[in-house]
Amino acid sequence: MQQPAPIPNNIVLIGFMGCGKSTISRELRRLLGYPLVDMDAIIEQRAGKPIARIFEEDGERVFRDMESGLLGELAAAEQPAQIIATGGGVVIRPENRAVLEHIGYVVWLCAPPEVIFNRTRNSHERPLLHAEDPLTRISQLLTQREPWYRQCAHLSVDTAGLSSREIATGILESARYFFTGHHSSPCRKP
Ligand code: S3P
Repeated sequence: MQQPAPIPNNIVLIGFMGCGKSTISRELRRLLGYPLVDMDAIIEQRAGKPIARIFEEDGERVFRDMESGLLGELAAAEQPAQIIATGGGVVIRPENRAVLEHIGYVVWLCAPPEVIFNRTRNSHERPLLHAEDPLTRISQLLTQREPWYRQCAHLSVDTAGLSSREIATGILESARYFFTGHHSSPCRKP
């Protein structure tokens, strides 16, 4: 029987806005020395404007197309191991979820809606949270997206109440375990 291709040694962070993907990815870079790919930052660079303006002027669809295109490029590129910080909505499209399954060790950073609300309430950079009642919006989006995050993740980490250092070292330990083959199959929770 043909063996599936090995999963590249990337560490990929997924999860809702405000769950710490950017902070933890920087901590992982510091600890590991791997290059960091921040997908939102690359999209902003390519578009020559902040994400909020892409949404406003070009629409969410254009942003999502750029996001899927970039994810596909990252999956196809033969790079040495890197840390990939995704945007919170990368799991929306089924084709992205299929790519995430073989792009690296996928870590879902999560937190309760109230924590996310407190962390994001002063940010003006997240167009999807420009709502009359952002907490309700967060809860709705989380309910919709949680099964998708769960589907893609090899590991889930509740970030509430832990320091970035604690989270990053925990991720490293389990990534080592994963990449040295001490797992029977990627943990797919029901
Ligand atoms: C989005 C999350 C954002 C950014 C865009 C859309 C989402 O990234 O990609 O505003 O749909 O959840 P962060 O999760 O880094 O805030």
